[in-house]
Formats: sequence, structure tokens, C-alpha cells
Amino acid sequence: MFEYRNGELWAEDVAVERIVEEVGTPVYIYSKAHFVSQFKRFDDAATRNHTICFAVKANSNLSVVNVFAQLNAGADIVSKGELFRALKAGIKPENIVFSGVAKTKDEIAYALENNIKMINVESEDELYAIDEVAKSLNKKAPIAFRINPDVDPKTHPYISTGLKKNKFGVPYDEALELYEKANKLDGIEIVGVQFHIGSQLLDTTPIYDASVRIAKLIEALNDRGIKIKIVDVGGGVGIVYDEKTDKEPDVNKYVSDVEKAFENFDVEIVFEPGRFLVGNGGILVSRVVYHKKNLNKRFLIVDAGMNDLLRPSLYSAYHRIAPVKLTGSERIVCDIVGPICETGDFFARDYEIEDVPNSGLIAVFSAGAYGFTMASNYNSRPRAAEVMVDGNSFKIIRKRESLEDLIAGEVL
Ligand code: LLP
Repeated sequence: MFEYRNGELWAEDVAVERIVEEVGTPVYIYSKAHFVSQFKRFDDAATRNHTICFAVKANSNLSVVNVFAQLNAGADIVSKGELFRALKAGIKPENIVFSGVAKTKDEIAYALENNIKMINVESEDELYAIDEVAKSLNKKAPIAFRINPDVDPKTHPYISTGLKKNKFGVPYDEALELYEKANKLDGIEIVGVQFHIGSQLLDTTPIYDASVRIAKLIEALNDRGIKIKIVDVGGGVGIVYDEKTDKEPDVNKYVSDVEKAFENFDVEIVFEPGRFLVGNGGILVSRVVYHKKNLNKRFLIVDAGMNDLLRPSLYSAYHRIAPVKLTGSERIVCDIVGPICETGDFFARDYEIEDVPNSGLIAVFSAGAYGFTMASNYNSRPRAAEVMVDGNSFKIIRKRESLEDLIAGEVL
């Protein structure tokens, strides 16, 4: 939904430059049509009873979450704040699942008061906390255990979650015992099983492998009279960042594999995709401030920094970068860096790009997931504006922060 027309970058039917004239830089620009079509691809692939719970952490802007709410999606949330947002954005509470290793009693109470679909329990301690809170509210908490299936997702170590050494979930071998303990608690209603092994999987076979292991567990639970109604297979389906090296996972195969793994059970399948739904539906547009040459090294210094888009600095993640206007000027090899006082403040290193003059615009692609949500105010930089394009119109869905916003809540 981002394409060049006569050498100029457009977002759907709006020229990116037109948005920048009105909104300034840095700015995140999203394509609603991309979000909708990715959701439909996923949804159409599923043939069984299922709910797609958008992982709000990928992009939590109210208008973005609302696009999915309108498509009848649920939400996967990991904090009280994300639950608040999801509800405000119009997601139905009965379609919300709650993950996270350190849910506090306050967060658990908020979730139970709002009657969400399921809490994914990540430890025995947490199980007892949920039981206690539920009883104090005269409720039964619908839970699943998040199982760590010890399957290698073969992705970046920082975004691998389903290995024994990771902090997430409860060990596969202890699951039966935990379910039996949970079954005896008055404040707990066992409804499901959940797992999530990692993010940005270009090969989804490990999710199928994990599903097969989880199916065995469900069989053992059913044998013990513990009925599982919901299987939540987490998120993790990757997207293409680098057209030269990445191959898009086959979403139809992924969904049908998962369905096959659970074909013997009458269960609802919950999916928690984040990146797949929004990643390639967003770009970050930034203005070139200066060119700089230190001996042989060239730098393109832009007005967005690691505080706006952290992924290259944190994960050495690749993001394609290109001029908003192609002029046919010489191609240069340079580091594309931000204004922050950190060597790690870069978007790309030794990157070949058609030269962009000072004040010209660049677009950083694949920035719709884990872009704005991981932004900060480091170096006291107001956070960027966010814009959603829909056909030939666009709307500011988050104002650029002001200097006053920067100090809101502070006391002199
Ligand atoms: N469900 C759970 C329990 C998760 O922990 C996550 C992501 C998801 C679903 C969604 O995963 P996705 O479909 O987006 O892969 N900041 C990192 C990604 C961290 C992902 C954390 N968990 C990045 O920028 O690559």
C-alpha cells in the first residue's frame, strides 16, 4: 500500500509529501487498507472456530486497534494499560486474552472486573494470586496456562520466548501437575492452553511442532477430566523486511497446520498475531538534516532517532530505507543515523541509497509494528505524530507531542 508513482512515494492514494507538509517530521504513516487486508488473509485462512486477538503491543494506537475491533478481532494484551486501550478502541472484553509474566493483583482485578476471555497464567505464584483476587471479587477467573514447549523458533534471541532458558510460561513437564492444582481452586476456571514461542518467524514449522506437543498435553488433560475449550497458539508469524533475503511465510499453511494439530479436539483456536497484521502497514518518514563525512565514512543525519524507532539499535534489525522522492541522483553508501547522543542511534549502516539532499525526506519501511509502541522521550524528544491513510484521505491519529507534553506530570 506504499508505492512509487512517477518517482514519488504514496501511501494508498495520498502522496507522502502532502502528509508531511501538513504534519511535519518525524511521522509514522499507516495504511488502513494494509491492516484490513492482512487481517482478512489471516481470517480467511481459518476454517475452524477461531478468534484473532491482535497483539496490541505491536501497535497500540486507538485508531489502529479500532480497525481490528471493527473487523471483530479480539486483543492480546500484556498490561492494564493495554487492556484500557483495547476497551477504549472498541474490542469486546469477551475477546481479550491477557499474557505476561508479572501481572499484578491490581491488573488481575481490572481484567476480572472487565470480564475478559482468558488470563494466560505464567507461574504457580501467579495462579494463586489470580485465585485470591477472583475469590475476593466473587468471581471465577477463566485461565489457561502458558506452556513453554521448549521449541526453538530460530529467530533473534531477544524475541525467542519458547525455550527452556526463557522466563516465559511454565515448563511443559510440570503442566499436568499445575493444571491439577488449578482444578482444585475455587477462584479458577480452567478454559484453555496457551503458548507463544517467539516473534518474526519466517518459517512457522516450529509453531506446528509446538502445537503437536500441546495437543498431547490436551489429550492427557482430557484423560484426567480437565476439559480444554480454547487453544491459544500465540503470535509470531513474520513479515518481509528485506525483499532480497526474506520470504514471506505462507499464512494459509501456518493456519492449516495449526488446525491440523488440533483436529481431534473440539476447541476454539485463538491466534495472537501482531507484526503480521501491522508491520508492513507503516512507514516512518524523516527529514535529512545534514550530510557529514568523517574521513571516509559518510553519514546521512536525519531528524528521527532511536527514540522513535528502536529496532535497528536494539536488535540490529534491518529496515529498508528509501527516498520519498526518487530523483536519479548518485547512489551513496552511508550510515543513516539520528540526532541522539548514542553511537547506537542508527537506522542502517553502510547502506546504499540514492542520495537525498538536506531537507529531503526518507522513508523507513516496515515500521508499523513495534515502532511507535517502543518509542520514548530519550534526549527529551517529543514523540512523533501518527497518521492513518484511508484511500485518498488521511487523519492525524496521534498529535505530535509538544514541549509541554514532555514535562507533563513533573514537579519543579
Ligand atoms: N503473544 C505474545 C504472548 C507475545 O509475547 C507476542 C510478542 C505476541 C503475541 C505477538 O507476536 P508477533 O505476532 O508480533 O510476532 N519488539 C520486538 C518483538 C517483541 C515481541 C514480543 N511478544 C520486535 O520489535 O521485533
